[in-house]
Amino acid sequence: MDKVQGMLLGTQTVNGNGVLEIGGCDAVALAQEFGTPLYVVDEQCLRENCRAYREAFATRYPHSHISFSGKVLTTMAVFKIAHQEGLGLDVSSEGELHTALRAGIPARDIVFHGNNKSRREIERAVIEGVGRVGVDSLDEIEALQEVAAAHDATVDVLVRVAPGVAADTHTHIQTGRVDTKFGFPIVGGAAKEAVAAAHAAPNLKVRGINCHIGSQIMDITPFVQAVRLMVEFAAELRNSLDLVIEELDLGGGLGVRYLPEDRPPSIVEYAQAIADAMRASCEKYDLPLPRLIQEPGRRLAGEAGITLYTVGVVKTVPGIRTYVVVDGGLSDNPRPALYDARYHAIVANKARAPRTTTVTVAGKHCETDTLIQDLQAPEIAPGDILAVQTTGAYNYSMASNYNRLTRPAMVLVANGRADLIVERESLEDLTRLDRLPPRLRD
Ligand code: LLP
Repeated sequence: MDKVQGMLLGTQTVNGNGVLEIGGCDAVALAQEFGTPLYVVDEQCLRENCRAYREAFATRYPHSHISFSGKVLTTMAVFKIAHQEGLGLDVSSEGELHTALRAGIPARDIVFHGNNKSRREIERAVIEGVGRVGVDSLDEIEALQEVAAAHDATVDVLVRVAPGVAADTHTHIQTGRVDTKFGFPIVGGAAKEAVAAAHAAPNLKVRGINCHIGSQIMDITPFVQAVRLMVEFAAELRNSLDLVIEELDLGGGLGVRYLPEDRPPSIVEYAQAIADAMRASCEKYDLPLPRLIQEPGRRLAGEAGITLYTVGVVKTVPGIRTYVVVDGGLSDNPRPALYDARYHAIVANKARAPRTTTVTVAGKHCETDTLIQDLQAPEIAPGDILAVQTTGAYNYSMASNYNRLTRPAMVLVANGRADLIVERESLEDLTRLDRLPPRLRD
């Protein structure tokens, strides 16, 4: 049955009626009960990924800490699950921080990143007492010192460093090169200067350095390279500033399966390579092993998410292609448009039917919003339910209201049970913030 559909992820399976099930729930029944488009989160898959990551590091590099990258799937329920699995959380705006605090995540378990924090965000971070602030500019170091002093607080900081690694991923999501808006490049001395500035600030305590080289990375080599460069930099800081780097935060970036042929490294392989590189590099520079922080996002949530759509129009352009048009698109998944991202899908109500045609899946926006260029599929008809896989990362959290589509609902499924974790937006929600000034009221 796997063969027919190409890939089944997490708890996805095909039941006796040939219908796709996720978390023991019939996908067609979910679409009927909650409407479409619908984001579905496979709780067991999410929990298992969190656990696998934590255990892979705990056994290979005991002094490690895993933090869920909150921007990936920013909902209270998902944050809560990650925290229950023993993970911390990283946020990069006041909105993400607010969501985390409302979910009951203790501030001390939160790392606050972001390359342009507002004064208000800095104040909120200090007042709430977040565990770490990742500082990203000299202006921020100055502002954070000022706010910390005003509140008579000492703030633990990580200094964001650009190690100069170009990972093989879409250029929009390469973030560790020297030419980047994120952090301070090691090359040229800016990173050392920034650490020195933070170290000299009386109300800041430099706990360590952090980097994030990019996302959806399918090869371990650039991560190992980043470890070497970061440890070398830590040694330079010890030698020149007499500063011990207690923590090394490597960010996230490990890739997932979008297509049946994708082969990302396993979490265990990845953890082993990082642990080995940490030991070898620290030994080389005679440094004590720092606490290792990882901030995976996509790898934890990506494959746990699936989006259900209802097929509306099926249109053949003779001799060219057949368009299968669904009731969402660019607004619930901007990734194909932004990054040429590719996806795989299953026709949920025909999950065992042989794939005899090739179609293009498009959305309903006033754009050429192709979701899937060439999908091998059974004959598709209006009313079919299409399940696009691996939509747990950067789909809901990057969704918009373009063409004033209401953002989809999200359900959490496990053991045959489905709980609504994000309500579908209503038409009222769409106009809630609009104002008609008196002179426009007839
Ligand atoms: N840590 C930091 C500091 C980050 O900036 C990010 C992601 C992560 C961790 C998590 O990375 P992950 O494990 O998910 O790769 N919107 C793009 C991806 C942007 C990544 C931003 N930073 C996409 O949809 O592909």
